[in-house]
Amino acid sequence: MAPSFHASVQADLNPAPTLEISATTKVTVASSIPGDAESVAVPVGIDGPVPGELGLDREALAAAGFDGKPGQTLVIPRSNAAVLVAVGVGAWEELDTARIRDCAAAFARATCMHGKVAALYADTGDVPVDAAAQAVVEGILLARYSYLALREAKEREVPLAELTLVAGSMPKDEIERGVERGKLTARATELARDLANAPATLLTATRMADIATALAADTGLEIEVFDGARLAELGCGGILGVNAGSAEEPRMIKLTYRPEGEPVGRIALVAKGIMYDSGGISLKPNDLVHATMKTDMTGAAVTLAAMATLSALGCKSEVTGYLMCTDNMPGGSAMKLGDVLTMRGGTTVEVMNTDAEGRLVMADALVLATEQEPAIDALVDIATLTGACQRALGMQRAGVIGTDQALVDMVSAAADRADERVWQLPLDRRYRSELESEIADMKNVGGDDAGAITAALFLEEFVGDVPWAHIDIAGTSRVERDQSWRSKGATGFGARLLIELLTHFVPPQATRH
Ligand code: BES
Ligand code: ZN
Ligand code: MN
Repeated sequence: MAPSFHASVQADLNPAPTLEISATTKVTVASSIPGDAESVAVPVGIDGPVPGELGLDREALAAAGFDGKPGQTLVIPRSNAAVLVAVGVGAWEELDTARIRDCAAAFARATCMHGKVAALYADTGDVPVDAAAQAVVEGILLARYSYLALREAKEREVPLAELTLVAGSMPKDEIERGVERGKLTARATELARDLANAPATLLTATRMADIATALAADTGLEIEVFDGARLAELGCGGILGVNAGSAEEPRMIKLTYRPEGEPVGRIALVAKGIMYDSGGISLKPNDLVHATMKTDMTGAAVTLAAMATLSALGCKSEVTGYLMCTDNMPGGSAMKLGDVLTMRGGTTVEVMNTDAEGRLVMADALVLATEQEPAIDALVDIATLTGACQRALGMQRAGVIGTDQALVDMVSAAADRADERVWQLPLDRRYRSELESEIADMKNVGGDDAGAITAALFLEEFVGDVPWAHIDIAGTSRVERDQSWRSKGATGFGARLLIELLTHFVPPQATRH
């Protein structure tokens, strides 16, 4: 037999190099600039004194076209000493963690040829020192990310070996606390990016489960992996329907984090893990869209990466994650338009578009989450669900929709802190009639308009009475070009949002609308 195509895919290659400890940046806090630093960031406001370290006054900076606007950088070379980089931070009174992260990212991009960099720590005013330090670490590490599993680094793409935060007169212990958290949150985002950037034939659902198993053992998570046979026993007709056309097995990966002692609350996460979304029989129309659909498992990637940090961050709530992993492929055995699937819990769904597959795989898990004992306090799902959400909100903001305003507000607040922003869309039940079916309980698609909302209305059918919020990251999961801390390709959007949400979670006061 001729060697199969699949044999030519590097089966022994690690699709997620971030998981290798050796690949990580060493981040430390020091009192003074280390002797071997190649470049040093010096923050400069739009007004106020210019730090003495630069050895330049405002007129000299202005003459070089630098006035301290946020994200502006001016590289100042010196003989036999580290390059100094003036980094504009704007007006000091406007400083917040989002701006700090953006400025740190600008510095990281301006010094992409350096492996050892340092940043002078300035007084951040109202921004807590640890939060500011965390943002600096995130901005620099994430701007310097690239997916290097399958190619060599380019000349001006030197891996960042060392990052030093120079404390000066600022409290070193508080900076250190922020650095520790920033290392974990940035690493989580990097891992999620690796997984989403990995080609779909390299990162199958089975491989994803293997990676999750290894990571769970390292990070104190319980894990249970369900294959097709076990999913059939559970009556998970949604994920099995979507998987029907694929040569690859499906996997439901159930992760559990249990804090020490009585949990503050219990929350479940449901994540879309479409390893590749061809559209199925309702094949996607154009090539370029196809090429991005290996990232259709971003929800699963960010959920896995976020959960892996919970033990190190001392999360006080119990968290269960359901990663629903399968390809969506056309083929002789694929589900057909007009087929009726029976989801976990018995709801029947008439498939009118096989490209609306995310909601099908997630429905089974939403039901499983509502069946958990002890009962959960909240249910949050995250998915690259609709092109409609991308149309509405673009690539900078995800959509959030839910049944419980307190929970939606908690998601929004976490999103603001992480600067992975969301915008609430209405769960307007007047559109629910679009999902009515002649022969089943419901169809899997509504009409042409309000696609993000009808998708949420579909999901709502499976959440019972549990406070629920749905995050649609279709638009924010990738960027076309480097942009602040988002590096070209998969962004890992959602990992830091979820970490913020889970580590600050308290059961919402139900305010069902
Ligand atoms: N994975 C796509 C959504 C998507 C689009 C993610 C663009 C990232 C970028 C999803 O499975 C899908 O195909 N949605 C359809 C739904 C439609 C058939 C109701 C869409 O948005 O067109
Ligand atoms: Zn999809
Ligand atoms: Mn689809």
